[in-house]
Amino acid sequence: MNQVKAVFQGDFDLLENIKISPLSRGYTFSDGIYEVVPFHNNIPIAFDEHIIRFKKSADAMNIALDEARVIDEMSQLIDMCDGNNGYVYYQISRGIDEIRSHIHNSNLEPEYFGYSLNYDFEDKKFKVLLCEDIRWGRCDIKSTSLLANTLMMNNAASKGCNEIIMHKDGIITEAGASNVFFIIDNAICTPSLNNNILPGITRDMSIKIFRKNNINVFEDNFSIEQLLSASKVWLTSSTKGMAEVTDVYSENHSIKSENFLFNKCEDIFRTAFFND
Ligand code: PDD
Repeated sequence: MNQVKAVFQGDFDLLENIKISPLSRGYTFSDGIYEVVPFHNNIPIAFDEHIIRFKKSADAMNIALDEARVIDEMSQLIDMCDGNNGYVYYQISRGIDEIRSHIHNSNLEPEYFGYSLNYDFEDKKFKVLLCEDIRWGRCDIKSTSLLANTLMMNNAASKGCNEIIMHKDGIITEAGASNVFFIIDNAICTPSLNNNILPGITRDMSIKIFRKNNINVFEDNFSIEQLLSASKVWLTSSTKGMAEVTDVYSENHSIKSENFLFNKCEDIFRTAFFND
């Protein structure tokens, strides 16, 4: 990997040179929030929307977020990146405790950390494992605390899958690191937003541009059976873009057939996402 450019507490350096305290609450408690902002031809995609969601996560966690600083540092990281396409990872954690304690001091200085990575947005297809959503009740906060996601995704990887689709009480929620869309009877369906789902920026962009192109999108509660009856399933995220699901495991369900509506959505999405 090329040398990765990073920033920590205002100092720009190579990622490998950055040192953190073991008493950072980001380390001991995963007490932090993050954003992943993609960029194409050096221009951030949906920058404002990412910043607005970052602020919402920060407010929900009662962490002070200096918006101007975040925008400035993310922009510098994009400029410094070796490639023109990639993403910025940026996290803010609560600060460093004097000694580990669940209840934090009110005067901790938040830690601002980010890096930019050269990345190709190539078309990738996904094999997903269906699994019970065992996460906490505030998945709408983009928290760095992703233990349930990583546990389930690594279990899926051991079974030859590269993502998961989760369900809670029989209702589809989202994927491990993306939102879920599918086509039933020529209509686009996606789980509606609530505390069990991250309000994905790519999800929101997709819904808006599909509707603008007179394609119906239904946001609702959808069952596992409905997902399995879909003629096409795909995932959205800032790094995946719009990525087709070819197989849903545990049900041995394969969805490889061509779908005109999906192809149309893909074209519309590409134009909007990459602004070409
Ligand atoms: N993940 N749901 C979850 C649980 C996610 O982690 C993500 C993004 C999304 C899609 O959100 P967006 O369209 O705003 O990227 C949905 C990022 C990319 C990650 O953790 O790397």
